[in-house]
Amino acid sequence: MVSPGWLTEVNGVLYADGVPLPEIAARFGTPSYVYSASRIEENVRRFRDAFPGLPLELRYAVKANPLGAILRLLAREGLGAEVVSGGELRRALRAGIPAGKILFTGVGKTERELVFALREGIEAVVVESLDELRAIAGIARSLGKAAPIALRVNPALAPDTHPHLSTGGAGTKFGLDLSATRAALGEIARVPALRLVGLHLHLGSQIIEMTPYLAAWDILLRVRHEAVANGLIPEFLDLGGGFGIPYRGQGGFPLEELAASLAGRVPEGVKLFLEPGRALVGDAGLLLARVLYTKEVHGRRFVVVDAGMSEFLRPALYGARHRIVPVAARPGPVEPVDVVGPVCENADVLASDVPLPPLAPGDLVAILDAGAYGASMSSRYNSRPHPAEVLIFRGEPLLARERERVEDLWRGEIMPPALG
Ligand code: LLP
Repeated sequence: MVSPGWLTEVNGVLYADGVPLPEIAARFGTPSYVYSASRIEENVRRFRDAFPGLPLELRYAVKANPLGAILRLLAREGLGAEVVSGGELRRALRAGIPAGKILFTGVGKTERELVFALREGIEAVVVESLDELRAIAGIARSLGKAAPIALRVNPALAPDTHPHLSTGGAGTKFGLDLSATRAALGEIARVPALRLVGLHLHLGSQIIEMTPYLAAWDILLRVRHEAVANGLIPEFLDLGGGFGIPYRGQGGFPLEELAASLAGRVPEGVKLFLEPGRALVGDAGLLLARVLYTKEVHGRRFVVVDAGMSEFLRPALYGARHRIVPVAARPGPVEPVDVVGPVCENADVLASDVPLPPLAPGDLVAILDAGAYGASMSSRYNSRPHPAEVLIFRGEPLLARERERVEDLWRGEIMPPALG
C-alpha cells in the first residue's frame, strides 16, 4: 500500500486523487510533477485543527513550491505567505495573496525589492541585519511612510537535521544575534520611520522533534519582553517553518504536541505565526517519470529514467531518500537497483539500492513526497527544459505549468552579430 492517502492502487495501477497516473503521463508527458489539491487542503486543515484556541496564522513558505496554482489554492484557504525575494513576492501577489499577509525574509534584500515591498504595503519586512534596518529606515523616509518590520532573531539553536537544513544555529548567516537584536530594538524605538510589528525566527528544515521549538519560543518571549521595555509592542511572534514530514512513510512532526505545549504560553493580544512550506505541500506531490532503459554495469543494476537531478535535486544535494514506486505492478522478483537520470554527473541518482520489481523501457515510476523543494529547486542543467506541472483539483487534472519548450532554453540569449 502506498501512502499518502491520495494515492491509491486499483487493479495494480496507481491512481492520484482518482485519476490513473498512466492517463496523466499520456496526456501531459513525462517527466511531470503531479500535485493533489485535496492533500494540500488537508495539510492546511491539519495545522488549523492542531492549534484549537490559539491565535494561529499561517504564512506559507513560497520557496517550497511557488507554482501559481498552488499559491492560488492557498490564497483561497486564507493563508498568507513568507517570501524571500522580489520574485516570490510578485508570485504571491499575482496568485491573490493580499500584501497585508506577506512577510519578506532573507539576508540580502535589494533596495529595489524593499521599495517595491513597502509600496505594495506588505505585512512586514523581516529584518536580518543592522545595515538592513538602516537601509529600510532610509527608504521609508523617502516614501513618506513608516515601514512595518519584524526582527529575525538567530536563536543559536541547532536542531537535529541535515547540516544544510539547519539555519538557526550560531555560525549561520541568518538573523540577528541577541546583542544585535538589542541594538535594533533601541534604534527602532528612536526612529519614527520604523514600526516593529513582530518578532521572527526560523530553526531549519525537516525537523521532527518539538523541543527546539519550545526553546525558541522562550527566546521570542524574552525578546518580546525587551521590546516592550523599549515601548514597542510586537503583534506577532513567528516560530518559522521547518516541520518535518515522514519521507520513509512514518514519523513526522508532532504538531498537536507542540500546540499543547504552547497553549497558555502565548501572551494576551499576541498572534502566533508559523511558516510551513514542506509540511503543506511535500507529501502532496510526486514526480512522474518514464523508464528509458535498464542496464547492468560491472554487476550493478541501473534503471535509467527521463527525470534526473535537473528536475529533482534533493537526492543529489542532501542524500535525501525518497520512495520510488512503479506506477503499474510488475511481476517478478524485487531486487535492489539504482534509479538514475540522464544527466552527465555521478550524483545524478534519484535513489540508490531501492528494491524494485523488474522494470522495462516505457514503464512509469513515481518519486513520492516531491511536492516541496522539487520543482522549485530544479535547474536547466544539460539544457533540459522544465517539466510540466499538473494539479489535480476536484478529480480533474489541471495543467498548471506547461512543459518548457526547447526554444525557451535560449530565450533572452543573444547571438552577437559580431560573431558572424
Ligand atoms: N521560513 C523561512 C524563513 C525559511 O527559510 C524556510 C525554509 C521556511 C520558512 C520553510 O521551511 P519548511 O517548513 O519548508 O521546512 N531545500 C531544502 C529546504 C530548505 C529550506 C529553506 N528555508 C530541502 O529540499 O529540504
